[in-house]
Amino acid sequence: MFPTDLFRDRKIVVGVTGGIAAYKVCEFIRYLVTRGSQLRVMMTRSATEFITPLTLETLSGHPVYRELFPQDTFSATQHVNLADWAETIAVVPATANILGKFAGGIADDFVSSTLLAAHCPILFAPAMNHHMWENPFVQQNLERIRQAGHEICPPEYGFLAEGYEGMGRLARLEYLIQSLYRTMHPARDSLQGKTVLITAGPTREPLDPVRYFSNFSSGKMGLALAWEAFARGARVILIHGPIQLTPPFGMECVAVETARQMHQAVLDHYQDADWVISAAAVADFRPKRTAEEKIKKSGTPMQLELEANPDILATVAKERRAGQLIIGFAVETHDGEKNARRKLQEKSLDAIVLNNPLEKGAGFAVDTNRVTLLHRNGTRVELDIMYKLDVARKIFDFVLEQSP
Ligand code: CTP
Repeated sequence: MFPTDLFRDRKIVVGVTGGIAAYKVCEFIRYLVTRGSQLRVMMTRSATEFITPLTLETLSGHPVYRELFPQDTFSATQHVNLADWAETIAVVPATANILGKFAGGIADDFVSSTLLAAHCPILFAPAMNHHMWENPFVQQNLERIRQAGHEICPPEYGFLAEGYEGMGRLARLEYLIQSLYRTMHPARDSLQGKTVLITAGPTREPLDPVRYFSNFSSGKMGLALAWEAFARGARVILIHGPIQLTPPFGMECVAVETARQMHQAVLDHYQDADWVISAAAVADFRPKRTAEEKIKKSGTPMQLELEANPDILATVAKERRAGQLIIGFAVETHDGEKNARRKLQEKSLDAIVLNNPLEKGAGFAVDTNRVTLLHRNGTRVELDIMYKLDVARKIFDFVLEQSP
């Protein structure tokens, strides 16, 4: 899960409609509370059959909106006031009913009236029985909603409350946040029509059937870049080594193990790419021989012969086609800027992202990073320590600004 400061102080309305997945909205609300968002919650009457308003009032710290004509207020325009207040509305879960009402312009309760009065991007996260999901009217409604510029976080295939497997489970929390990040992105769709290829994570170089060489890369920076490119509307190809993270949805993910497999996967895909971003921590060397059976101790010191792996980024940069942007990373523990500038030049890159894994709050496996951005035109930007997803946003802003 990626923390980000994009949601801090932003005014977000969460709409909860009546499906069994309603209980899962608690985690979504909690995530946003921890990110410092200003939250208000509204519920349909059916939603209150599944989860109590008190739960969501406690989590959000505010009364939950439910009635168009509440007894305890003289105002009949609360739905319009809330719609005016919202920077984004997220409907989690969204029933077939609310999708139908919104697509059909119907406002007959607090939630549907607020949605109709809204003038901000809305995220719908549908969850329903798979026959309902496949119903052509539901699909037509979704299409209308998409066409109007709103966002859909598609449901997942899996075990349904009905007791069997099918399409229709509410998307997992990571996917909801990935979608909300896109919905609220200040440059949403700024890469519409572009293809971005990203490499991420470590590679593993086998020594025998039970051992390998690798490094401490978690893949977090690369996956954050993939979220970022997705939020900007790009087609994303994510080629990643072995990682413990959930690969994002809505993109082509290619899982590899070794540097040579990553090299091949990049060669198979990079021609299509307008951007190539090499965030993977590729092992520079591999054992010259991979034993077919487990290597046994012999009691004497062991000598290992290593041979060089291909430099994936250098290959791509050498064979680049006109207009392709190539961005690399430089992981340096000393003489950072000198080494990064050398790599920028030697590998013919457009930009390089320098970081030092030994610095506090930077490097592998943590949620934050502290980087310096260098462009081939000489521009240099030093960023403060920030979440990796926020670093990813700055990297795209920087390259778009410097390589128009
Ligand atoms: N890279 C790559 N293939 C390799 C090695 C590195 O594509 N075999 C890419 C990395 O993804 C990164 C950039 O090249 O974008 C620089 O990687 P880094 O590890 O910092 O430097 P190296 O080029 O490997 O040089 P050195 O290890 O000597 O610092």
